[in-house]
Amino acid sequence: MTIPPLAPYPATRLRRLRQADWTRRLVRESLLTPADLIWSMVVHEGEGQLPVPSMPGVSRLSVADCAAAAKEARALGIPAIAVFPHIDGAKKDASGKLALDPNGVVARAVKAMKDAAPEVGIMCDVALDPFTDHGHDGLLEQGRIVNDATVEVLVAQALMQARAGCDILAPSDMMDGRVGAIRTTLEAEGLTDVMIMSYAAKYASAFYGPYREAIGSGKLGAGSVENPGDKKTYQMDSANHAEALREVALDIAEGADMVMVKPGMPYLDIVRQVVDAFAMPTFAFQVSGEYAMIMAAAGNGWIDEERAILESLGGFKRAGAAGVISYFAPRAARILGA
Ligand code: PBG
Repeated sequence: MTIPPLAPYPATRLRRLRQADWTRRLVRESLLTPADLIWSMVVHEGEGQLPVPSMPGVSRLSVADCAAAAKEARALGIPAIAVFPHIDGAKKDASGKLALDPNGVVARAVKAMKDAAPEVGIMCDVALDPFTDHGHDGLLEQGRIVNDATVEVLVAQALMQARAGCDILAPSDMMDGRVGAIRTTLEAEGLTDVMIMSYAAKYASAFYGPYREAIGSGKLGAGSVENPGDKKTYQMDSANHAEALREVALDIAEGADMVMVKPGMPYLDIVRQVVDAFAMPTFAFQVSGEYAMIMAAAGNGWIDEERAILESLGGFKRAGAAGVISYFAPRAARILGA
C-alpha cells in the first residue's frame, strides 16, 4: 500500500473526518460485532458457580449452567463457545487418562450445550494439562515431554470430543504432527465435518497464569527435575515471528481449517503477519492474563472498563483477525448491543 503524497497545508485536514460520530462511523476501517466472538468458558464437575479469584466476573460453570450459557450465547449473537474443564486434583494422574473419558465433564458439557442451543458452535481444547497431575500438556518421561506418544493420546481425546458432538477441535498442546494425526483419524472415522482450529502459533507465556488457577492445573515444576517448570520445550519462544509462519504453514498442510495466535495483545504483530501470509481464517486468543490485567486496572479505577474491553477486542479486528476467543465475550456482546 502506498500513501499518497499529502497536499500542501492547509488543504489536508485529517481531523475533518473525525468531526462527528456519523463521519467517524462512515469511514471506520474495522468493525467488532458479537459475531466475532468465541466465548471462553470453564466447566467444573460440581453444582453451582465457582468464581475464579484472579478473574473477577468469571466463574467456573456447572454442566447445567453451561447449557444455560449456550442459550445466552445464542441470544447475544455469539457464534461459538470454547469449553475448558476444571478437574478435581485428586482425580488427576501422570497419564491424564481422564482426558479420554466419554462420560467426563467435557463430553457432558458438550452434549448439554448442543442440546440446549444446537445453533451455537462448540469448540473443545485438545491437550492433557487439565487432566495431568504434573500440569503439562503431554506425557512426561524422565522430565521430557514425549511427542509422538502424546499425539496418540491427543487423537483419542479428539475423537472422544468429536463423538460427543464437538464442532471444532482446538489442539492447544503444541506437539508436532498432532493436527495431521487428528485429521487423518477424523477422515477414517467418517467425521468429515468436524473442524480443526489449531493453536498454530502458541507462545510460552506468563499470561496464562489465571487460567491455570481456573482449571486447577497441576503445579509445573513441583519441586522435581522430573517435572520441568515451564512449557518452553513445546510452546514457542516469545521472541520469534518467522517460526510462527512455519508453524501456521505446517498446520494448514496437516489439515487445519482455521488457525490461532495465542496470547493475543502482546502478539498482534503475529496476527497481522499470519493474516497477510495465508488466506486462512485467523483467530486470536485474548487469554486469562489479558482479562485479569484489564479487570485489575479497571477495578482500581485506573482505566474505563467497558471502553478497555471493546478497544482490546477491536484491536484484533484491526489486525485482521476473523475473530477472538475471549472471557469478555458475553460482556462485550452486551455492551455492543446496548
Ligand atoms: C493448555 C492451555 C492453556 C490455555 C489454553 N489451553 C494454558 C497453557 O498452555 O498453559 C490458556 C488459556 C488462558 O490463559 O486463557 N493446553
